[in-house]
This record gives sequence, C-alpha cells and structure tokens, in this order.
Amino acid sequence: IPPSAAAPVEPAPADAASGPAVSLTILYGTQTGNAEQMATDIAGIARSKGFAPRVLSLDALPLDELKGLKRLLIVTSTYGQGEMPDTARNFWEAVTAADAPDLAGLSYTLMSMGDTGYETFCAAGRAIDERLQALGATCLEPRVDCDVNYAAIAFPWVERALGVLKTVEGEEAAFTEAAGEGMRAKWTRRNPYAAKIAANTRLSGASSQKETRHIEIDLGESGLTYEAGDCIGVVPVNDPALVSAIMAAFGTCAHQPVQGFDKPLGPLLAEGFELGLPSRELVAEVAKRSGDADLKHVLEHGDRQALDAWVHGRDVLDLVTMLPTGALPLADFIGLLKPLQHRAYSIASSPKEHPGTLHLTVAAVRYHAHGRDRGGVASTWLADRVAAGGAVPMFLSPNRAFRLPDNDDAPVIMIGPGTGVAPFRAFLQERRARGAKGRNWLFFGDRNRESDFLYEADFAEFTRQGVLTRLDLAFSRDQAEKVYVQTRMREAAADLFAWLQDGAFLYVCGDATRMAADVEAALIEIVASEGGMSATDASDYVEALRRDKRYLRDVY
Ligand code: 2AM
Repeated sequence: IPPSAAAPVEPAPADAASGPAVSLTILYGTQTGNAEQMATDIAGIARSKGFAPRVLSLDALPLDELKGLKRLLIVTSTYGQGEMPDTARNFWEAVTAADAPDLAGLSYTLMSMGDTGYETFCAAGRAIDERLQALGATCLEPRVDCDVNYAAIAFPWVERALGVLKTVEGEEAAFTEAAGEGMRAKWTRRNPYAAKIAANTRLSGASSQKETRHIEIDLGESGLTYEAGDCIGVVPVNDPALVSAIMAAFGTCAHQPVQGFDKPLGPLLAEGFELGLPSRELVAEVAKRSGDADLKHVLEHGDRQALDAWVHGRDVLDLVTMLPTGALPLADFIGLLKPLQHRAYSIASSPKEHPGTLHLTVAAVRYHAHGRDRGGVASTWLADRVAAGGAVPMFLSPNRAFRLPDNDDAPVIMIGPGTGVAPFRAFLQERRARGAKGRNWLFFGDRNRESDFLYEADFAEFTRQGVLTRLDLAFSRDQAEKVYVQTRMREAAADLFAWLQDGAFLYVCGDATRMAADVEAALIEIVASEGGMSATDASDYVEALRRDKRYLRDVY
C-alpha cells in the first residue's frame, strides 16, 4: 500500500531541526514491504524534524529493550484474514504470552495499514494497540487506521505523532544507522529513482499462452544497493490508449486543466490514478447517475459478492462509458479515483554477481473481458512501453524477513512456481557467489515445459556446478491431470521431511491466495505422515518452523 503519487496532502515542509537529535524507534510489521516502506518514509520525515530514528521489524527488537523505550512509533499491516504479518508474529506471541511483561513505562504511537475492501480492515494494528494498553503502555496519539488511499490521513497523523513524541523527555543512547540505509531512504515512492532498462527480453517461448519477461535494471548513479531476497517498488504509467479513451468519454483532451492539481488531465490520468479496478465510490456514483438497472439492482439487492462479481473484469473506462454525456462533472470524477499505487517485484538476481544491476521476472498480465482487451498496469507498461534505454521510476523495498540463512552450510528448500521463482534465482546466485556448501533444492512449476521453463539454462548451469542439488518440476498443462509443485512435494515427502529434520530452511514465493495455502497444507500433511504425527502436532511443527524463521514466505 504505497503513499500516493497524487497525494492530496503532502507532508509539511521540514521544521528547522534545532538542538541535539532526539532518539526515535520505528518498528514495522510487514508482509509485502509496504509497512516497511512507510516506516522508512516516516524515518525520513522524522530526520528532517531533528529526530535520530532507527527502523526495525517488530520481531527484531527484544521485549526487554521495548519495555524501556521512550519514543516509539509502530507501523503495521494486516495479513490475510486479520493475521499478524510474518515480521510481527514473534512480537505478538511475546506480548500475548501468560508471562508478558508489564509495559507501564512504555509510551507509543501506532499506524495501522489495511484495505477497507477486507472485513478484517487493520485488524493486526487494532489488536496490537489494545494489547499494549492492556499491558499498561500509554498511547500518545490515537491510532490511525489507513486505507489503500491513505495519504490524506496518514501524513497529517505522522505530523501529529512526531509532534507529541518530540515532547517526551529523556535521552537514549544514540542509534547508529546501517550503511546503505541513507540511499534507500533517499529514493522513495514519492521520490523514485529513474533507473535505465538495460535489457527487456521474453523468457517464455513464442508458443506460450503466457508472456513472461526478463528485465534488467541499471542502478546507475543511484547509490542503491540491495540484497538477495529484496523487492523493488515500480511506479508505473497507465496505458495511453486507456487514458485517451477516458478523456474522449468526457469530450476533452490531455491539456484540460484540472482544479486542485498542477498537472493537466492527460499526465494526471496517466501518472496519478488507478484506471483499473474502479473504486466503490465511483461504482455507486455511476449507478446513481447512469440509471443502469442491472447495476442498481446489484447495489440494492445483491450482497458484497454479487457486487464483486459485477465489478470483476471491469475498469474505470467501462464505468465512465455507462454515463450519459455530462452526467458526471470531470472534477467529481477525478475525486472518485484512487491514487496510482506502485507495484512490488521480487529481485531475481544477487548483487554479488550483478553489482549495480538488478533483474526482474515479470509476467505480462493480459486478458479479454467485457468485449475489450485489457492489461495489468505495471506489467504491460514494463513489457510493451518501456524499451531498453527507457527509464523506470523505482525504489528499493528491502525484504529483511526473506533472507538466506547466515549459515552457508544449512540446507535450503525453495518453492517458487511461475514468477515466484525470481528470488530463488537470486538465492542460487548468492549461494554460488558465497561458495556456500549447503544443499539447495528447488521446486518450480508452470504451464508447459516446452514454453514456460523459465531460466532453464540458468538452472542447468547451477546443477552442473553443483549449486542446485535437486530440481523438481511441475508442468501443470503437459498432461490431462494438473501437476503442481505440491504434487511434487508429496511425491518427495520422505526426502523433504529428512531435509527439514536436518535443519533446512523452507521458502515459498508466488501466489498467496491459492498456491501458498495449498503448499502449506501439503507441508503439514508431509510432516504428519513422515513424522508419524497427528494433524495438530504437524501444524505445531510447521508453526515452530515459522517461529524459528526457517519457514519464510514472500507471497502476494
Ligand atoms: P495452471 O495455471 O495450469 O492451473 C504458475 O502459474 C503455475 O502455478 C502454473 O502451472 C499454474 O497452473 C500453477 N498453479 C495454479 N494454481 C495453483 C495452486 N493452487 N497451487 C500450485 N500451483 C498452482
């Protein structure tokens, strides 16, 4: 959930920093990196106000140290069905344990991030807020719950929270910032680095129904450094054809000034707003002003699912073309759009083998719905509209929770179907560069071997060099019955369990809604059958892996 490009409220200009820097701890709970990015942005604002901030994950700070903090700001997202994000689970366990400490000395502020599209909106932040107070901590500024479209409330809240935190008395030992943090903090969602594209080629074969691309990005003079496992945020530009069609529907053109914005309509629509999934507010307004009987019926009599089904596959243009001419003034229409979000991509390279460059694996999303060809915003922009030599506004989104083991001898199991393979190509490069002796096992899957065996040559090379110990492939559409990565995991149950018993780290990357859940179910089954455990004990075993940070996921 990125800060918006067209943020209606920008942070106030930096106050003149006066006096010695004031220590501030910013803790984040993140699943996809958004809350961490927000924490980094807040650190930047805090620095300009005379704070000396440090940014850590909730799990990274021992509770004993937390207890004594004078100035604390927490930013957390919610994962899945109201769960704690992976980087806050240990923290949550510690504060909800029977022997949780008294936190009477602690004062804090908390920003919760979520999506009002989910029933469990901001559930994790709410739970942490309530729990800290139950343990005696003092909340200095009421919690803010931020939706996807959050700039208007988030930044004023940051101003207030930092204002209150500044008044808290007391000195703490100065924190030292890690090297490289400065550049990461410099290039942000609101100030991205315009990185040159060094290569943009098709990975999937011509006969593939899918188009997956390999993109190389030159970090140039940015000073940016990354680690295997990190992601980047890409700030895309909308399809000009879609922008033109919307302008035409309003009977106007790109030069049209828009009240309240310094950009004219064309660039504003291209760079400022989401033109894909329409906001609920736009749908409601179009229902009212178009008199469309179908949509009206769904809104009045249907449930949430019926509305989702109606909206599915439709974009902002579909809604606009339902309106009679002049039914919705342009300024009102703009007010019903959501700010354009950045898209996160996992890096597919190791900086040890590719210093100054990073690789991405991008599936171009293309489909036909409601009589028109459509495409994913960032993926088709990268695939079609940014040629080699063109620039991509980007920033680094560190993924500190998704790292190879420090111990180079530890075995590693990686499960990454489709573009989920990206960070594992990075991991294998990294382990090769480190000369790591630990065994590496990759599960990869895609539709057809002939056309979708991404990075086949790379994996052959890793195998030849002894870096890749074992490669299990699941091509789902090469036979009548679906074969998925979890099919291969089940077939290899005995070996997989033996690796885990040997201390293997297990990584999953890719689709969160189905794949990651199915893989987890398979994992629990394998542990139960191979370990001779009950289903509950097997779940506990997997939970323990997660707690020990040996079961790590980068899912989206
Ligand atoms: P399918 O599209 O043929 O169903 C990468 O997208 C690969 O992941 C494809 O082979 C895709 O298969 C597969 N896939 C789809 N759903 C999955 C699931 N629930 N678990 C694992 N893999 C899945």
